[in-house]
Amino acid sequence: MIICKLADETQRIVKESTKDGQKSGFIPTMGALHDGHISLIQKSIQAGNFTSCSIFVNPTQFNNPADFAKYPSTLSSDIDKLEEAGCDLLFLPSQNEIYPPDFKPPHYKLGYLESVFEGKYRPGHFQGVCMVVDRLLKIMQPTLLYLGQKDYQQCMVILKMVSDLGIKTEIAICPTLRENSGLAMSSRNMRLTADQKTKAPLISTELLRLKKNIREGNVDSILEESIKTLDKAGFKVDYFSVANAANLQPVTNWDGQSKIVGLAAAFLGEIRLIDNMLLN
Ligand code: PAJ
Repeated sequence: MIICKLADETQRIVKESTKDGQKSGFIPTMGALHDGHISLIQKSIQAGNFTSCSIFVNPTQFNNPADFAKYPSTLSSDIDKLEEAGCDLLFLPSQNEIYPPDFKPPHYKLGYLESVFEGKYRPGHFQGVCMVVDRLLKIMQPTLLYLGQKDYQQCMVILKMVSDLGIKTEIAICPTLRENSGLAMSSRNMRLTADQKTKAPLISTELLRLKKNIREGNVDSILEESIKTLDKAGFKVDYFSVANAANLQPVTNWDGQSKIVGLAAAFLGEIRLIDNMLLN
């Protein structure tokens, strides 16, 4: 695997490596890689792409400086995992390479999408995500961008940005990988204590319960019960909600037909966990 820290050099290598018509697949990450990340790399490799991954802990998407400071870093094991998966290139930029001194932060018109759920609880977060993904896409110019459904709202935001800006990259959204317990894999899980790790799967258990039991007319009562259960177990719930899967508008009176998604975010101690499930 080629490891490259410079944007120009990375762009040159991707262009050179795909000059005979091979497609390029790109997986942006913030490192502390787990099997969920690796599943995206594998999807790209299986599709026959020249496959690149980036590791960059993007400061502009952290609304909480302590969360940024404590973001786990496991670079040498990340490199081993990428090598083992067969990744072709790792882009490992410095802050200066992504945000040079003359960088002017653009504003992205995300509208309603950044006013709800993660957008509401993490002000500015999606502007930061768009800023870095826009910059990375300009460098990598991939045929395909692989994203995880684990960050459902992030997928919707990036789909909107790519469409609004007329970027020619296709987006592939890949399923959430989970531990046997049901806990959605996340770099933040590394920071859970042993006790918290036994409690953390409850979010996915409640999402599954929601999926199994949701009917027209019972949405509010089911959600209330789940929030109570999570509260009792020691979570501090930011939201546990049902939304229209296509536009994230809240659903209280479900018509029994429209595509819906259950979305959850909750703190266990100081660790904030998110998860979601398509419900029909
Ligand atoms: P990060 O949290 O490192 O995630 C990188 C990619 O891996 C994202 O597309 C995310 O949805 C996906 N992913 C994370 N956990 C997953 C799981 N359990 N199963 C499947 N895919 C999973 O998301 C980010 O970084 C950043 O916001 C980024 C897009 C890199 C911009 O900085």
